Amino acid sequence: MELTVAITGASGSIYAHRTLIHLAASGAVERVNLIMSESAQTVARVELGVDLRDADGRCINDWLALPQDSKLVRLHRLDNMAATPASGSHLQAGMVVVPCSMGTLGAIASGAGTNLIHRAADVTLKEGRKLVIVPRETPYNAIHLENMLKLAHAGARILPASPAFYHRPQTIEEMVDHLVFRILDQFGVPHSQASRWTGGEQGTENSSQ
Ligand SMILES: Cc1cc2nc3c(=O)[nH]c(=O)nc-3n(C[C@H](O)[C@H](O)[C@H](O)COP(=O)(O)O)c2cc1C
Repeated sequence: MELTVAITGASGSIYAHRTLIHLAASGAVERVNLIMSESAQTVARVELGVDLRDADGRCINDWLALPQDSKLVRLHRLDNMAATPASGSHLQAGMVVVPCSMGTLGAIASGAGTNLIHRAADVTLKEGRKLVIVPRETPYNAIHLENMLKLAHAGARILPASPAFYHRPQTIEEMVDHLVFRILDQFGVPHSQASRWTGGEQGTENSSQ
C-alpha cells in the first residue's frame, strides 16, 4: 500500500509523528509520501523540539527511528507540483492530513490550493480515494465548520484530533495512539495495540466510539 501523509501547522505534531511510526511498524505500507508545510516545521520545533527545516530522507529516517537506508518514507518538497502525489495517474490508497490547520482545511475546501498538500488532497478527492482530515483548532468558527462540511460532502473523512478517555490512557502517547489507530483503521492498516471498545462494564454494547 502507498499513502500520502501531510503535516501542517496545527498543534499536534505528535499525532503526525505517531502516525508515521505506526504506519512504518504495520508492515502493510510500502511507501509513505510525506509532505510538510513550513508551519508544520515551526510547530514541530515548538512542540517536539525537533528541527525538520531542510529535512531530507536521512533526517526523517532518524526522526522515525528507521534504518538510514530505509526507502519507506519519501519526502516531497512543498512546492513540487511534479511530485507523484500531485497526479491522479499515480496510484495510491489515499491521503491523511495530520494535524490539519484551518488554513490548509480552507485551501482544500476551496479547491484553489497553491502547494503540494492542497494539490494532493484535491487529487485524492477527484480520484475518489480516501482523504482523511484530522483538523485541530478550538473553538471552531462557522467558516471552519462550513469548510469541514464541504469536505465531508466531497467525500473526505473528518477525523478530529479529539482524544478519547474511555480506554483510560496513562500517558500522552497512549492518548495520541488511540486517535492514530482510528486513522489507520480508515485505511485498513493493521495495528496490534488497538484499544477497541468491546462493551461497557455493565455489558452495554456501544458501537459509536
Ligand atoms: C505553536 C503553534 C500552534 C498552532 N496551532 C494551530 C492550530 O491548532 N490550528 C490551526 O489551525 N492553526 C494553528 N497554528 C497556526 C498555523 O500554523 C498557521 O495558520 C499556518 O499559516 C498554517 O499553515 P499551513 O496550513 O500551511 O500549515 C499554530 C501556530 C503555531 C506557531
